[in-house]
Amino acid sequence: MSQGHVFITRRIPDPGMKALAEAGVRATVFQKNEEKGLTREEVIAGARSCDVLIPLLTEPIDREVMSANDTLRGIAQMAVGFNNIDVEVATELGIPVANTPGVLTDTTADLTWALLMAVARHVPQAHNYMVADRYKLWGPNLFTGADLSPGGSEQRKVLGIIGYGRIGAAVAKRSVGFDMDVLAYDPFNKDGVTADPLAEWAEFDELLEQSDFVSLHPLLTPETHHLIGEAELRKMKPTAYIVNAARGPVIDEKALVRALRERWIAGAGLDVYEDEPAMAPGLAELDNAVLLPHIASASIDTRGKMAWMAATNAVAHLKGQRAPNAVNPEVYDTEAYRQRLARS
Ligand code: GLV
Repeated sequence: MSQGHVFITRRIPDPGMKALAEAGVRATVFQKNEEKGLTREEVIAGARSCDVLIPLLTEPIDREVMSANDTLRGIAQMAVGFNNIDVEVATELGIPVANTPGVLTDTTADLTWALLMAVARHVPQAHNYMVADRYKLWGPNLFTGADLSPGGSEQRKVLGIIGYGRIGAAVAKRSVGFDMDVLAYDPFNKDGVTADPLAEWAEFDELLEQSDFVSLHPLLTPETHHLIGEAELRKMKPTAYIVNAARGPVIDEKALVRALRERWIAGAGLDVYEDEPAMAPGLAELDNAVLLPHIASASIDTRGKMAWMAATNAVAHLKGQRAPNAVNPEVYDTEAYRQRLARS
């Protein structure tokens, strides 16, 4: 028996598909191939055709999309970030929106450290050197990089974490093995920083000026858009590295290209881009940037669990129940939501 129809914008890992099938849900997966996403019209048509929408962070879900279907019972995004969804409008229209928090915290923190280490120790460049058969003689100056641990300088390095939610704190936890000092700044969660013995609160400028490594973990909001621009990059040490595995627009990417090219800072590790999948002109040609295609949560187990969580949220939406991970739970008490359920 079908329990409703879910439209999934692109293929999600099997645990999600299985959970939908077990709940008797009819699921349509749009995806045509791995490189081409949906057009806006295709997203709108999909939203119109279903009872619950499962989008990915690549599809903007705005008023037009949500207004296409006045019986849409909910949105269950497979991602923790939901800046692609206009949640305020969703709430106004009585549509619950859910995400997949928590499960990807460790996986994302791990990748942040992979980026830190890769950029500081030139790992991709050294790999390319090997596969290009350029390694002819060991030398004391070959790919010398920066220590994360005290290393030869015998000085503890400072890790500055901007945005101290679950992921920021998990990044701090991993610094213990490197004997680092952690500074943290989060305009919305000062208590979270001060409660954590691993981190010391720092004002924004102080953190930029003192850190050897700056790692970005804020949500993307109007306040954090271009949080790091020319002025902030110029405040960093010329020996410092910056890493972004949060959302691209947190950094002014054109300013970052200049900072890297002119060596205001030593390097950057990026998993996300301002206008993804495009990169700012010049970024790909730099020898002091390590660039990844938004894979911070990409472990098999974590992506499977995220898909399962999205499916579980979708099934709750379909049943008219509170979704376990609603980001706008206040919607359940609105007249707009009650009317929407009554219509569907
Ligand atoms: C990935 O970027 C996510 O938000 O889940």
